[in-house]
Amino acid sequence: MGRLGSLAEVAGFGALNVDKLFLVDRIPARDEEGFVIDVKIAPGGSAANTIVGLSRLGVKTVFVGKVGSDSEGEFLLCDLRNEGVDVSSVKVSEGRSGCAMVFVDPSGHRAILVDPGVNDEVDFEEINVEALSAEAIHMTSFVCKSSDKPFEAQKKLATFFDTVSLDPGTLYAERADVWELISKTTIFLPSVAEIEKITGADYRRGAEKVMAHGVKIVAVKLGEKGCYVTDGRKEFHIPALKVSVADTTGAGDAFNAGFLYAYLRGYDLDVCGVAGNYVAAKCVEKLGARDGLPSERDVEEYLSGL
Ligand SMILES: Nc1ncnc2c1ncn2[C@@H]1O[C@H](COP(=O)(O)OP(=O)(O)OP(=O)(O)O)[C@@H](O)[C@H]1O
Ligand SMILES: [Mg+2]
Repeated sequence: MGRLGSLAEVAGFGALNVDKLFLVDRIPARDEEGFVIDVKIAPGGSAANTIVGLSRLGVKTVFVGKVGSDSEGEFLLCDLRNEGVDVSSVKVSEGRSGCAMVFVDPSGHRAILVDPGVNDEVDFEEINVEALSAEAIHMTSFVCKSSDKPFEAQKKLATFFDTVSLDPGTLYAERADVWELISKTTIFLPSVAEIEKITGADYRRGAEKVMAHGVKIVAVKLGEKGCYVTDGRKEFHIPALKVSVADTTGAGDAFNAGFLYAYLRGYDLDVCGVAGNYVAAKCVEKLGARDGLPSERDVEEYLSGL
């Protein structure tokens, strides 16, 4: 049981994608050919990864988003349902579901093509805000190539929640208007490169800048160095766990799940950073973004042994 009794419900709001990972003999240049050695297909999307992480940690979760009326959409919905996520706010609409095609060659070099599909059609008018009883909302980026509706919807929906967490990802880190969303954010969860890009300052100074825009807590992900967390009064550098790394895909999303779980449980800021590092470490030990995500019991055991 949590320190504060029952856990608040968290809504996730971001792109829903099928991740198609192709192991290829080589990444072809223009007008060249290569061949596919192996294919792995997994449900993805940064916010969805974090929401699944929270659900495994016993948090009640709901997802807001859109999938296409294709087999990929059915696959994404099925997977979220199996993870215990409420999908009643995921719209199914005519068109293709979002898809991220990742091509990896034997030396580990990658080329990525993202098809936003119907994600770009997410529209605030279609969201049944009254049906969302969640206390907190976690948001991540949309591609917003063909329409800016998803970004506008996120700005509007943010105003309905007490706690708004935002992982900008590289896509939003490159938008000058990301500040319009940051100013509605309570917990900001960027990587070091993202906060430095957004603020034009080193990450500690960058954290001060976003807090000057109303953000209450900043947790900067520092890769193998762990994380930096601050609430403007206290600050902590928390080293990462020493683990054998299989694959860092989704490490940042897993970190967000651990951090938000501990925050909702009422743990102190430094413990939130420790929990984020722990969930991320469990994730990087396994292949893929979700295979290693731990249970509530694992995290509580780890935190109680500190
Ligand atoms: N080599 C590692 N060993 C242990 N933990 C790691 C390692 N790399 C990353 N982590 C953990 O994962 C967290 C997130 O990683 P990172 O800083 O790379 O985030 P990110 O850039 O947002 O990742 P993503 O590509 O998933 O968006 C780190 O804060 C740390 O806790
Ligand atoms: Mg990230």
